[in-house]
Amino acid sequence: KKTSTWTELAEPLPVKRIAVIGAGTMGAGIAQLAAAKGYSVLLQDVKEEFVNKGMETIRSLFAKATSKGAISKADAEQAISRLQTRVDWGASDDVDLMIEAIVERLEIKQAVFAKADELLPNRAVLASNTSALPIDDMAKATQRPEKVGGLHFFNPVHKMPLVEVVRGAATSDETIATLVGVAKRLGKVPVVVKQSPGFLVNRILFPYLDESARLVTEGFAITDIDREAKKFGMPMGPLELLDVVGIDVALDVSKTLSPLAQQSTPSPALFQNMVAAGNKGQKTGSGFYNWHNGKRGPAI
Ligand code: NAI
Repeated sequence: KKTSTWTELAEPLPVKRIAVIGAGTMGAGIAQLAAAKGYSVLLQDVKEEFVNKGMETIRSLFAKATSKGAISKADAEQAISRLQTRVDWGASDDVDLMIEAIVERLEIKQAVFAKADELLPNRAVLASNTSALPIDDMAKATQRPEKVGGLHFFNPVHKMPLVEVVRGAATSDETIATLVGVAKRLGKVPVVVKQSPGFLVNRILFPYLDESARLVTEGFAITDIDREAKKFGMPMGPLELLDVVGIDVALDVSKTLSPLAQQSTPSPALFQNMVAAGNKGQKTGSGFYNWHNGKRGPAI
């Protein structure tokens, strides 16, 4: 049955080459992992400086992995040689799977899906790493809605074991089986979820993150909130996590989710002020905390 989340109803399609669109926090992480696991990877962004920054992130992830002994230097170099970059669309006959990881805006994602549909081979599966946007709306931008699904990684990609495989209204069993197969080969634990705003994890996580930002607005100290949350067993407090996610990304996700949760309060005003001031978290060097070379400094 098409509505089933059970994936063993179909054979996965073979995947050798993956196009990752967007070389930011998530795209770079996904491209690094895919190359490390033997896939050939095409990493695409809109400007040379963005793909270069993505490649820098990828090299430092490989450097960390080799220094820990998780991968040999030779294997890391081989993996890096499996990565190619580009700054514009072009026909790519060899791509089996696209993973879109660009900014969390529906219109921009739809434009990417339309381009991918036009330029990637008919056999290619088109996946989005969206945190909360409807897969069906991306599928609508294509002529192959049965080949569109969600492949939602968590941050940081190389550490977080879970991947949500999102089934839209038209997604075929074959597409789900293909995405599940790729997630497994990447060493992840796939969970198949049906399309719904925020899917499973962010639907639960974001009310908690939003409330922590509201507590800051009410005058609670950032470090107090994070310290107390850690006592619940969280590896990281909510505000530090928001910095790692990116305040701009959190603002977009929280906007998508707040009408759903029927909250009278919109996404926290604090997120909007922080984004307007350029304090987007770890990636900009300041958010709730100051950050230097990826290491957390004092709270603001
Ligand atoms: P980011 O802001 O770090 O990177 C986005 C990248 O996409 C930028 O380099 C930008 O230049 C590029 N981009 C924008 N438009 C593009 C286009 N038309 N073609 C190619 N590249 C384009 O964002 P991040 O954090 O990597 O998020 C990407 C996606 O992943 C979003 O949908 C977000 O909701 C989702 N996500 C984010 C997580 C996080 O913790 N940051 C976790 C899981 C999912």
